[in-house]
Amino acid sequence: MEYTADGPALIEGPVELHMPDGRVVRSDRFLVALCLCRRSANYPLCDTSHRRTRRQAT
Ligand code: FES
Repeated sequence: MEYTADGPALIEGPVELHMPDGRVVRSDRFLVALCLCRRSANYPLCDTSHRRTRRQAT
């Protein structure tokens, strides 16, 4: 597993994720980006929303 600074955790795919609410999320990609910021509209998969909400340093 690989982490990015403010973004997703990158794991080898394909994956099948069993969510607490009973949903099963599948991805056949060879590299899957898991959302760690919880802003993704496609959670638990990253949709790059973390980029839009990053704050500028002052
Ligand atoms: S880590 Fe990318 S949208 Fe959350």
